Amino acid sequence: MGKETELIKQKIDVVDFLRSYLTLFPAGKSFKALCPFHAEKTPSFIVSPERQTWHCFGCGEGGDIFKFIMRYENIEFPEALRFLAEKAGIPIRTISPTQQREFGVLYDMHADAAKFFSDALEKHIPSQEYLAKRKLSKDTIEEFSIGFAPGDDSLVLHLMNKGFDIQDISRAGLAYKNNRGLYRDRFEQRIIFPIFNAVGKIVAFTGRIIGPESETSPKYMNSPETPIFNKSKILYGFSHSKRAIIETRTAFLVEGQMDFLMAWQSGVKNTIAVSGTALTKDHLEKLRRIADAMVVSFDNDSAGFRALERSIETFGSFDFHVKAVHLGKYKDPAEACEEDPEFLKGAIRNAEPALKILLERYFTEKNSADIVLVKRIVRHLLETISRIKSPLEKERWIKEMAKKTDIREETLQKELFEIEARGEKKETAEKKDPPKKKEEASRMRTICERLVLLGFTDPEFSSILKTSHSDIFPEEFLKTIEAGEKDPEDERVALLKMKATYEFSGIPKDDLFREFNELIRQFTLEYLRDALEKKRKELKKAADDEVMMKKTADEFHSISKKINELQKNEKKK
Ligand code: UTP
Ligand code: MN
Repeated sequence: MGKETELIKQKIDVVDFLRSYLTLFPAGKSFKALCPFHAEKTPSFIVSPERQTWHCFGCGEGGDIFKFIMRYENIEFPEALRFLAEKAGIPIRTISPTQQREFGVLYDMHADAAKFFSDALEKHIPSQEYLAKRKLSKDTIEEFSIGFAPGDDSLVLHLMNKGFDIQDISRAGLAYKNNRGLYRDRFEQRIIFPIFNAVGKIVAFTGRIIGPESETSPKYMNSPETPIFNKSKILYGFSHSKRAIIETRTAFLVEGQMDFLMAWQSGVKNTIAVSGTALTKDHLEKLRRIADAMVVSFDNDSAGFRALERSIETFGSFDFHVKAVHLGKYKDPAEACEEDPEFLKGAIRNAEPALKILLERYFTEKNSADIVLVKRIVRHLLETISRIKSPLEKERWIKEMAKKTDIREETLQKELFEIEARGEKKETAEKKDPPKKKEEASRMRTICERLVLLGFTDPEFSSILKTSHSDIFPEEFLKTIEAGEKDPEDERVALLKMKATYEFSGIPKDDLFREFNELIRQFTLEYLRDALEKKRKELKKAADDEVMMKKTADEFHSISKKINELQKNEKKK
């Protein structure tokens, strides 16, 4: 380790640092916590202020602050160094040139672009008026670096003037090449919300069109995935709300950026936004280490109740206690905060366990009088309860249900067991075969889609696909390629072409060729493996027919030889 790392470690105390990621409990001279790197119920993660290290006795991981942040945020050493150096206020000059080319330049560019967008907002009155109408304060705008994208090629030119390479700009998803071969800004006439990663660096942007929704372009648009932006790992607002979530062990979940910002502005600091996608396993596992409860909001209609049931199932299966707030007449948290800045805090204070709300809704006096209906409701709710991980919670809801229905706890418990047994059987049956098949099928699709994109980038690729591989390349994709040639106005084709521009413009032909060949190799490999599997089955069937058996066996061996050759090619690279 170099002098810089030592200096940084002297400035940043391991206990202070880890406290912003984990809940630490004092334990003698040390501290302990639930290990973030493996699932556990009792803490075996020990932090030693004396040695300035951490170690988990459960999974054996351990090290210093560098090792921690690299593992926790899935980042490489150079990124960790940058981040910690900045935190410690120590200038560094030791990033390797390759790392700088790959990651560093993207971080720098996003910082520059964010500055450009916020300067542009200062000059753009309609945007300011729009944000004022939505009641976003100057402080919030500043704190979250909200800006405005004028569009055309203003950002591209700005970044090029700053010395950034056009290839990097388009790799970052900030520019694309239009059909006349000119580079344009990706974000045009939109309010810009920078997306921060967990350590507070801007890694992507979301742009909202100004004013009412438009028919022709999506209301919100995001940066594509890049080496520094992984959609399934980042949550909007988490960098800011992490602390409050750790302190309250509770996260308030909202849907959109505006919901997040308005909740934050009205003092609800433990908010996170999913911004249009579902929470992934990765999100939930990470959140579970710092929070025990998840608060969601719901609408008082049947769709709202259905959504509530789904949250209990999803979050409950990760062992979250799920609570819900009712937004009353407001359509989302942003609107509630716009109309009444005090409303949300109060509503969250009065949040109730989601299952309690469901029980009340289902077991009304009227419903409870109908025995057939009660039976149905009981079964339905037990299905939901069966997804909850915590046995304690399960028992509690069984008790509540017994009270509401006058059915004995033991009876409900027995029914729950049966549901769980059935559920497990279903799950193991599913686990055996189909999911793998599904995975393979989707892998094949991804490969084919990429090949089609390359075909749109360069006619040479599409003609190779059509002439040399038409016998095995799926017809569906061949048709897409043909549609692209015949009917450039076709909507799906136009979309794919735009995607191709984003992905491949500016990349040298040699590199594209290499990628193309590799994809073809992988595709052929998948295809042959499938064919081999079919032959294997045919062989079994042909057991009694000697002639057939010999023929099939020959075919089997010839396919298997081809597979071996293709695999050897990979090793050579
Ligand atoms: P909504 O349509 O509910 O928007 O989508 P909203 O949050 O109320 O937005 P405002 O208040 O009109 O500004 C919910 C979320 O889904 C994502 C956004 O993150 C949005 O906040 N979304 C929506 C997209 O990613 N793309 C879209 O075209 C629309
Ligand atoms: Mn809204």
